[in-house]
Amino acid sequence: RWLTTMVDNMTGEQADHGIADAREADIKSLTKGLVPSDYVIIGGTGDLALRKILPALFWRYLDGQITSDYRIAAASRRDISPEDYAGMLRPFCEDAFSGGGASEDDWTGFLALISMITLDVQGGAGGDHLAGFINERADSARPTIFYLAIAPSLFGDATRLLRDCGLATPQARLVVEKPLGHDGASSRAINAELAEIFDESQIYRIDHYLGKETVQNLMALRFANVIFETQWNNNHIDHVQITVAETVGVDNRAAYYDAYGAIRDMVQNHLMQLVCLVAMEPPSHFNADQVRDEKLRVLRAIRPLSAGDISRGQYQEYAQELGSPSDTETYVAMKLAIDNWRWAGVPFYIRTGKKLARRASEIVITFKQRPHDIFQRNGGGDIDSPPNRLIIRLQPSEGLRLQLISKEPGPGGMRLFPSELNLSFGDTFEARLPDAYERLLMDTARGNQTLFMRRDEVFAAWDIIDPAMKLVAGRTPALYRSGTMGPADDLLAADGRSWIDPYDD
Ligand code: BG6
Repeated sequence: RWLTTMVDNMTGEQADHGIADAREADIKSLTKGLVPSDYVIIGGTGDLALRKILPALFWRYLDGQITSDYRIAAASRRDISPEDYAGMLRPFCEDAFSGGGASEDDWTGFLALISMITLDVQGGAGGDHLAGFINERADSARPTIFYLAIAPSLFGDATRLLRDCGLATPQARLVVEKPLGHDGASSRAINAELAEIFDESQIYRIDHYLGKETVQNLMALRFANVIFETQWNNNHIDHVQITVAETVGVDNRAAYYDAYGAIRDMVQNHLMQLVCLVAMEPPSHFNADQVRDEKLRVLRAIRPLSAGDISRGQYQEYAQELGSPSDTETYVAMKLAIDNWRWAGVPFYIRTGKKLARRASEIVITFKQRPHDIFQRNGGGDIDSPPNRLIIRLQPSEGLRLQLISKEPGPGGMRLFPSELNLSFGDTFEARLPDAYERLLMDTARGNQTLFMRRDEVFAAWDIIDPAMKLVAGRTPALYRSGTMGPADDLLAADGRSWIDPYDD
């Protein structure tokens, strides 16, 4: 769009040159730090690959970030022809055609990067084919990215197969995704299997929340501006709320979900990461280890929860969908305390749930009330004046709102009313917000681990969750009606506060 606007202001030859120059500059900045790489998606015909990984690669191809020098291998146990694979993939890439202006030529160009490999990670069949594919372009400067889009129970087999085929080279990178275990012990076991063959610097653990544009923006907001940092502590902040609300139920994932529940599925990873980004100290540099060191300090400062800090719920139709009664929670709210100088006395209330009234993820920072109300005596004080709030909307309708108190214009004395500074990312930056996987996949090619979880972070999060799971074991979650914001919980009421529901889009 910016190109169109620019070109509208030009004519003829000038425009042709303008487009060429701008496109070149744009591609240069997009491809900074990237070298052509090979992506091997193990589990290439699975849900994750078709829904997320391949469409993300297609978008990056459309933007010129992935060039014709890249290669993609879709490895699967099933023997599938390239034509059939293209047919399976196409419905998941439709957005790029309807909203992204992709053409049939783009599609053909992208498909030309993809090779199909039949691979059985358990039996080892197809390993030689995969090795042949990689070795054709083997080069110590060319990253090979192995994305394990398969069940974690197969990670050990897959990594051993890579080693046995001579593919666990220094230029190899391994991408894995949750569930990386069911508790601290199983997580340690899975990670130990990976560590037998790959160094920590080669392992990219995805938490897709870290790839979301607005989640990255949280770091920009905090560390590229000074005005918030001076207020970002227990002198000025009353409390923090984080809501990740979904309207979907567990659908066809009931078997997986029932063994995990909202605490393990969402809190152990996504919500803990959000808490870290809000609470962390500024790192000295925006690099992988410094950012992750600071997040780790937050996790280690979270006080062990007590039973009264956790409230669980289950939507009414859940047991029926599952086909049996269950104590698994589909909603959870927690009150966290962070024991350090910055946050002592500032509760972090977090909640997430399925089948809630709306899909909305928001972080609300509520500042303390003004210490003295100078307007009270001349009538301004009788309005119900809420404290200042900073609302960071992660999805959908990404943006920031700063709630302030202003004077109502016109005569009639000093009448105050709540008003808002509203920054909508959609309106401000016309560009499409890329999916989290697009950013994360390119970071694996760049060799940048900043937005990936380090092993010690994962373990520290389990160190909080494991005891919490023990506290709730055997307790039946409260039922809630679908389409509400979850069961009434008195976590906040007990502190004289209430949940702030996400604002309307
Ligand atoms: C996944 C969970 O990690 O995140 C799902 O397993 C959940 O249960 C999903 O629905 C939410 O992700 P998003 O990006 O839609 O907020």
